[in-house]
Amino acid sequence: MNQENTRILKGDICYSIDKNTLITVEDGYLVCENGTSSGVFPRLPEMYAGLPVEDYSGKLITPGLTDLHMHAPQYAFRGFKMDLELLDWLNSSAFPEEARYEDPDYARDAYSIFVQDLKKSVNTRACLFATLHLPATRILMDLLEESGMETFVGKVNMDRNCPDYLRETDGDASADATIAWLEETAGAYSHVRPILTPRFIPACSDRLMERLADIQRAWHLPLQSHLSENPEEIAWVQELAPQSRFYGDAYDRFGLFGGEVPTIMAHCVHCPPEEVELMKERGVYIAHCPQSNANLTSGAAPVRRFLDQDMRVGLGSDIAGGTVLSIFRAMAEAIQTSKLRARLTGDGLKPITMEEAFFMGTKGGGSFFGKVGSFEEGYEADAIVLDESRIPHPQKLTVKERLERFLYLSGDDWVLHKYVKGRRLF
Ligand code: GUN
Ligand code: FE
Repeated sequence: MNQENTRILKGDICYSIDKNTLITVEDGYLVCENGTSSGVFPRLPEMYAGLPVEDYSGKLITPGLTDLHMHAPQYAFRGFKMDLELLDWLNSSAFPEEARYEDPDYARDAYSIFVQDLKKSVNTRACLFATLHLPATRILMDLLEESGMETFVGKVNMDRNCPDYLRETDGDASADATIAWLEETAGAYSHVRPILTPRFIPACSDRLMERLADIQRAWHLPLQSHLSENPEEIAWVQELAPQSRFYGDAYDRFGLFGGEVPTIMAHCVHCPPEEVELMKERGVYIAHCPQSNANLTSGAAPVRRFLDQDMRVGLGSDIAGGTVLSIFRAMAEAIQTSKLRARLTGDGLKPITMEEAFFMGTKGGGSFFGKVGSFEEGYEADAIVLDESRIPHPQKLTVKERLERFLYLSGDDWVLHKYVKGRRLF
């Protein structure tokens, strides 16, 4: 038995079984053996009597949350130029800031702040875009590894339609840099994994996409990118890839749209029915980023449609399209966005529920990492103990009511203790 990742957490425990089923156990026991949950029990079974108990009676305990889409280098400029739409925002804000990461000293300063904040947050897992720079990406991976969180990190590929100061010279140069990055980092980390990261179709030449498909086959890597976020962007993709039937088809022509390979597409706000159909067929993960979609006037994704078709959906902060790390907040925003969408479009799609939002931020997104995001037996034991003391209340509340208000009221770092695969980070 490994002492470091074997323990029992006692407290008021919440977790999802499926998108409609939230389990709450008041004053229960989460048993974690060798990093894996053995289940949640209202009374401690005799067989576990010898394990060390950490007593958080009266405190909420939930699975750690998963941020399925964010840009680490954009953390330093969250909240800037938020009156712009995507393409103008990229040109005036994201690209100039990301260019700074050519300087490893700047990267170290900026990424240290970011990783420190991410470590304190309610999230235990994240899929991150870095920049195209190798040394800076390595620095980010080193810092994340030290933090103990479980992450996927992508060196970004971008070789066209970007400013000279933030563009790789051509598809081969970008692909070769990716191979160098993979070789340089292979075997170096236990908690950080590489993920292929073509920025989006407008920034990636056909040659680059062909080479990435080769790299994917050779290295068996998952992939993350952006899809159908903004109307201008979608029209541009149609111009750049006139033979594609829809945006997702422009990835699919290169074999880079799910299937064998775990794939995340962020946003999916304006997907035509054929695109949704293909995502479903290929098991593509949708990273729903409601705050970013509001900030950049992108729109409101039809999440109800995705959930009702049992598609794979998780939540993303899309830092710095979004400004908030907490995936609890993304849950509340996903609900709010779906309500506005329902009222304004009148298209008959019902708002999503609290249970569904909690599922997306835990088990939904967590499944990209495997058996993650629940406390059911066999799940990797990521857990957070929450600090409710900052929102005192005079009345008696159920565990579910306390959880719901945490979605709406909590700050980014209202966490007392955090565990990843049973290991305590703090
Ligand atoms: N599409 C391509 N790059 C980006 C980015 O950095 N942020 C967002 N929100 N969308 C993108
Ligand atoms: Fe993004």
